Amino acid sequence: MKELYCVIGNPIAHSLSPVMHTALLEQNKIDASFVPFLIKEGTFTTVMEGLKALGISGFNITSPFKEDILPFLDELDPEAESCGAVNTVVSRNGRWKGFNTDGIGYLEGLQDIRAITEADRILIVGAGGASKAIFQALTHHTDARLTVANRTLEKAVQMVEGTAHKAISLADAESQIADYTIVIQTTSSGLTKENANLPIRLHDLTAGTIVSDIIYNPAQTPFLKEAKAYGAVTQNGLPMFVNQAAIAFELWTGKKADRDLMREIVLKQLGGK
Ligand code: ATR
Repeated sequence: MKELYCVIGNPIAHSLSPVMHTALLEQNKIDASFVPFLIKEGTFTTVMEGLKALGISGFNITSPFKEDILPFLDELDPEAESCGAVNTVVSRNGRWKGFNTDGIGYLEGLQDIRAITEADRILIVGAGGASKAIFQALTHHTDARLTVANRTLEKAVQMVEGTAHKAISLADAESQIADYTIVIQTTSSGLTKENANLPIRLHDLTAGTIVSDIIYNPAQTPFLKEAKAYGAVTQNGLPMFVNQAAIAFELWTGKKADRDLMREIVLKQLGGK
């Protein structure tokens, strides 16, 4: 019987996951469908029961359900547990295990630039869901020293609680920016408008600092533009997006995901708009 995979969220219409995963399934000659499902308010439990009854092989969960899924899981990957959020579910014999591939997907992209060492001082700007996933991946898989800066300082403080890492205000992050070797922009501010307020300015950035933004559309955010002007090595959110999907595919199928193919597909979709 044909296997079923899906992505659930609200909104979901613009998700690029179906085209990427469908191409990977075809490339690997796996007899399966990957479909997007829009989850309407108040229907989450019914949908979960439905997916379970249908014997779904696996699925992605996007905003705003990454936390709602937790009570429906039989098992939770430790990193997803630390994040308190899940973006990928793998079903084995009807048992559901939750993973979070966002943080590790981000880290994989960062490590394509260079290896991360204990000498690295990493500033994460923002303390939302994406920031938390990246913070956990960096904590679990690198020895770098981390600092989280957020508009609402309390959220950054909560994130670093019980660790040796630091939480600071956006103003302090801006004035100390020269101390960091890597800066990661995870907030949604400055997403679309050219002249939007940046979470922090980068005047004092040291040339050669790696500056990344988790946004991939637009390809060059105002934050990355400013970083480039001050001599940074920049990376947008495309590698994170491709890698989180690639890792999900690998968890579901045990097959290596062709990241080059995925990147091409995403770029084509974005360019074709
Ligand atoms: P996601 O899950 O995509 O990370 P989120 O959980 O809603 O999104 O988090 C959004 C992040 O962007 C938060 O860190 C938020 O700061 P607050 O915690 O103070 O709300 C940050 N953010 C959003 N708009 C911002 C702005 N204009 N300036 C600075 N930070 C902003």
